[in-house]
Amino acid sequence: MTSIRTVGVIGAGQMGNGIAHVCALAGYDVLLNDADKARIEAGLGTIGKNLSRQVHREVITQADADAALKRIRGAAEYAAMAPSDLIIESIVEQDEAKRAVFAGLQPVLKPEAILASNTSSISITRLAATTDRPDKFIGIHFMNPAPLMKLVELIRGLATSQETYDASVKFVESLGKTIANAEDFPGLHRQPRAGADDQ
Ligand SMILES: NC(=O)c1ccc[n+]([C@@H]2O[C@H](COP(=O)([O-])OP(=O)(O)OC[C@H]3O[C@@H](n4cnc5c(N)ncnc54)[C@H](O)[C@@H]3O)[C@@H](O)[C@H]2O)c1
Repeated sequence: MTSIRTVGVIGAGQMGNGIAHVCALAGYDVLLNDADKARIEAGLGTIGKNLSRQVHREVITQADADAALKRIRGAAEYAAMAPSDLIIESIVEQDEAKRAVFAGLQPVLKPEAILASNTSSISITRLAATTDRPDKFIGIHFMNPAPLMKLVELIRGLATSQETYDASVKFVESLGKTIANAEDFPGLHRQPRAGADDQ
């Protein structure tokens, strides 16, 4: 099974910085990319503040927070994302923009790297089909705010392999999250859930 150590997060906005936060706290090395360099810096700042809040509430220790922050590196260029074992794309909800991200990343990624999208409404099967590895493509849909919300939906595309699904289950469980399997019907897996501020 694909062993995940480094997670590349594309998009440092509301969801992306929350996902990076959760992954780093769980011990993964995180590479945080955004098309806008200022959003990477802002995202890192938000993560720092949110980790401090967790320390304040005694959810984590200061040492946990410091270690998590150290595990996250801003990566403005795709080339820097090369060590990623798993990519979680969390950019604007636009089909074309998401396709362009995967097309741009593919040449630098390891062939075994898994591609995931945090999309709330775009078909995973169709997005996967535009990549060089539809079998290694899956929807991993976090709820907002990612550090607080327990539920994560996994959305298999038609071509998603069992190995990719199993690796994703293991990964999401390692984040301390609860998995719900959702169907790849555009729009269906973004039903608002209690407490979730999904858009
Ligand atoms: N906000 C929610 O409640 C929520 C919940 C679950 C899933 N989602 C999904 O998560 C994704 C991100 O949503 P968000 O609320 O974090 O959006 P956001 O607007 O807060 O952040 C999007 C970020 O993507 C960046 N970006 C845009 N194009 C890019 C590109 N080509 N390469 C790299 N970065 C790029 C922007 O600069 C911005 O920082 C969307 O697919 C959305 O549907 C959102």
